[in-house]
Amino acid sequence: MSHEDFPTENHAVVTCGLPYANGDLHVGHLRTYVGGDVFARALRKLGQRTAFVSGSDMHGTPVAVNAEKEGTDPETFALRWHETYEETFPRFSVEFDNYGHTHDETNTELTREIVRTLDEEGYVYEKEIMVAYDAEADQYLPDRYVEGTCPYCGAKARGDECDEGCQRHLEPGEVEDPVSIVTGNPAEYRERTHKFFRVSELQGYLQGFIDRLEGTANARNQPREWIEGELQDWCITRDMEWGIDYPGDGVAPEEQRNGDGDSAERRSADNSSGRSPREETVDGEDDLVLYVWVDAPIEYVSSTKQYTERVGADVYDWEAAWKGESASGSADGPESGGEIVHVIGRDIIQHHTVFWPAMLRAAGYNEPRAVMASGFVTLGGKGFSTSRDRAVWADEYLDEGFDPDLLRYYIATNGGFQQDVDFSWEKFQERVNGELVGTVGNFVYRSLLFAHRNYGGAPADVAGVSDEVRERVEGAIADFGEAVNDYSVRKVGEAAVRLAQFGNEYIQRNEPWKLTDDEPERAAQVIYDCVGIAKAIAVLFEPVAPGTCERLWEGLNEDGSVHEAGLGAALEPPVGSFGEPTEPFEKIPDERVDALNEKLEARVAAATADEEAEEREEADASADDGDFEPLAESRISFDEFQALDLRVGEVLAAEGIEGADKLAKLTVDIGVEERQIVAGIKQLHDLDDLVGERVVVVANLEKAELFGVESNGMLLAAGEQADILTTHGDATPGTKVR
Ligand code: 2FM
Ligand code: ZN
Repeated sequence: MSHEDFPTENHAVVTCGLPYANGDLHVGHLRTYVGGDVFARALRKLGQRTAFVSGSDMHGTPVAVNAEKEGTDPETFALRWHETYEETFPRFSVEFDNYGHTHDETNTELTREIVRTLDEEGYVYEKEIMVAYDAEADQYLPDRYVEGTCPYCGAKARGDECDEGCQRHLEPGEVEDPVSIVTGNPAEYRERTHKFFRVSELQGYLQGFIDRLEGTANARNQPREWIEGELQDWCITRDMEWGIDYPGDGVAPEEQRNGDGDSAERRSADNSSGRSPREETVDGEDDLVLYVWVDAPIEYVSSTKQYTERVGADVYDWEAAWKGESASGSADGPESGGEIVHVIGRDIIQHHTVFWPAMLRAAGYNEPRAVMASGFVTLGGKGFSTSRDRAVWADEYLDEGFDPDLLRYYIATNGGFQQDVDFSWEKFQERVNGELVGTVGNFVYRSLLFAHRNYGGAPADVAGVSDEVRERVEGAIADFGEAVNDYSVRKVGEAAVRLAQFGNEYIQRNEPWKLTDDEPERAAQVIYDCVGIAKAIAVLFEPVAPGTCERLWEGLNEDGSVHEAGLGAALEPPVGSFGEPTEPFEKIPDERVDALNEKLEARVAAATADEEAEEREEADASADDGDFEPLAESRISFDEFQALDLRVGEVLAAEGIEGADKLAKLTVDIGVEERQIVAGIKQLHDLDDLVGERVVVVANLEKAELFGVESNGMLLAAGEQADILTTHGDATPGTKVR
């Protein structure tokens, strides 16, 4: 890798993957945004001129499908979510310099300009491909409108991504056994003409790029497989209305041919349709919009441009970052003029390390310096799911009244950035009570309180911090700088916590409370040192806990804002007098965690039950298609069968469980006693009709809790419609079934 260490003279731009404007934000999303915000703040602390930008991803099927479900037009729908995100991010102190959206004028114009350039440079051609089509709905089925099987790994996949399996991008027509999500019918494939971007032509460039790329190891290594294998061209248009129209009015074909020899050659050699790129050849080309993954990353550039338009190019020049040459004139190559760092989720590595750098290169823009790809946040080991409500919601966290800095610290430092981490309120409590309250808060509060009570602030007449403390603060600053250059959000946070650990040990070792009478000078030095450490913590911890550090900064009577203070401020002498400090962090009591856990567990159980019910339905559906599950291979003994305590029961009452889609609570008389049983039959049966039915109950099944309701036994039922097993004659409740 040939990049200069941060800070450089270049303009840096840190971007966060654009959230689709299609639903509530949860803690899983926040991991990337908090990570990006911490990293951008940390770069600024190092003195790097940095813009931090993002925006809402308004187009594509993820938005269109959800808007349709709600019966709203996609623009109104997406704008509504965009406004929600715009308000939500700052509430977590995720402070973008600019937060735009892909449907605004800047992005629409810039996208068209870039696509025109690709076209003019001969990087775009037309090809006839097979596209999924729903005959009943009479519509094409781009991307999320179609589901099927991933041709690479066999997992269930959506039209353009294998999100439950190998995470690959899938091209139109690739998904196997396609089914329309509009009607549920198998999709047919129809021939259509689409535009393709010649990614394959940039293979050599991409191989060099991936060698230069910095960031997390997953983002640097995973793409090798794609870039070193056979690189396919990329379909950049879709048959749908919502999106940015493919730019039809560009430069005339003749003018395009006057480009450099390379591109003319490329056009004549590879234009499979043999036509000029600008000829109106595509049937109904007017219906073609750009694939969402074309205009989405361009928003990174548009958003930076909007920032410049607001603050002026002397403050931040978007063109220096995205198109300029390296300020230091270093020999990194033409790509090094801006320090472009993309912070994303690990599911979109391919887009950011293959398609996007290829587009940038072809359009004459700078390449990314680094990609930081975060792992997923899971719940009980499984991914968050918006549709199933298996999530901890951003709003929910704030409604609990927790300080955003607590969550920032927890998600920024709980495991390495690229690791998947399981969210748990206990772990959250452990980190908050242990490190934030016990280490950072304890040190800062006890030393500032002592300083305030005995000296009214930092003791006067002390020349400066002791050598020992200076060295420790310098060490923390060096760790911080290293963490940024390692792209380690976790280590950025750890630099300040380690310093606080040292502070606690230092004050304990020197016991200033024992020195005030007999050795006042030493006592003053120790306390001065502690105030110095507290000030350094405010500076170093600001990227992770900006709100708390600003309050601490103000409490220390320091000038200006800690957000503006560079790392050097950590070694500057404290202002001096200050008032009584407040505790920076509050302990989270066990009862609070118990209540949060209970709520979350019920939610996860309901999601799991819904998921299992769906899986059963799917299995039953294939059974109903004559595609039965194979018979079990192993046989069980009669004794093993006898171990099952199956009883005839009579349903005494049945009611739906509020808030759960599929679950119902039944009271069943099984002769010896009455049982409460939860079953996934809410939508499949008229519950009133079940009262009085004789059913078969597995009486010795382990108890379970579903959606917070205890289930003591299980009803036997068959098939997709949960056809409940009943008795043929008069077997009374309690009779054993053999
Ligand atoms: O996967 C997603 O959620 C996309 N909306 C991310 C887009 S990031 C970018 F490239 F703009
Ligand atoms: Zn796959």
